[in-house]
Amino acid sequence: MKLVFATGNKGKLSEVRKIFENTSYEILSKENFDSFPDVIEDRETFEENAIKKAKEIFEFSGIPAIADDSGLIVDQLNGAPGVYSARYAGENCTYDDNNNKLLQELSAFPEPHNAAFVCYAAYYDGDLILVVRGELKGMIISEKTGDQGFGYDPVFIPDGSKNTLAQYSAEEKNKISHRGKAFESLKKILSKMEL
Ligand code: IMP
Repeated sequence: MKLVFATGNKGKLSEVRKIFENTSYEILSKENFDSFPDVIEDRETFEENAIKKAKEIFEFSGIPAIADDSGLIVDQLNGAPGVYSARYAGENCTYDDNNNKLLQELSAFPEPHNAAFVCYAAYYDGDLILVVRGELKGMIISEKTGDQGFGYDPVFIPDGSKNTLAQYSAEEKNKISHRGKAFESLKKILSKMEL
């Protein structure tokens, strides 16, 4: 069974491929197509963006599509960067630019800087829409640590851990992460429904 994952993010693709490893689902993505639409994430919520991505990629490929929209929510910043997590420091910014901006904004507040990663994962097959949510709570630290993962991983310590997410292997991260939880739920629902 083929599913097309609507992403151009290699970090996310390898995480989601690991989750669907050893199942009957084969995860296709941008690399499997000559052209692949870049879906504009212009909705106001993670949920709406995830559904939009799954729908556009299904319409493009004709193959059942999965998509996610995820980001970081920081309590002291009233939920920022939220849906703007990917471009917090501006269009075409790097992960490092985003981390620097986050640490700069948080330097005005006392520790701990409580935060959570959230992920909405959507499925669309031309008929049925499914959406599930996963969350990982933790805090932001002021020194970037570790070289695994992507995005805000080097400054995020999950609750109950001493390490940043950038010090976790992909497999360890999948077990606890917002995306891991969301796509594990989606995988269970899809196989239960025999989709
Ligand atoms: P999107 O889901 O592709 O819109 O991007 C979400 C953005 O949130 C990414 O570019 C990262 O900056 C951030 N993000 C989402 N998930 C993670 C994660 O697992 N680790 C670190 N940063 C993440």
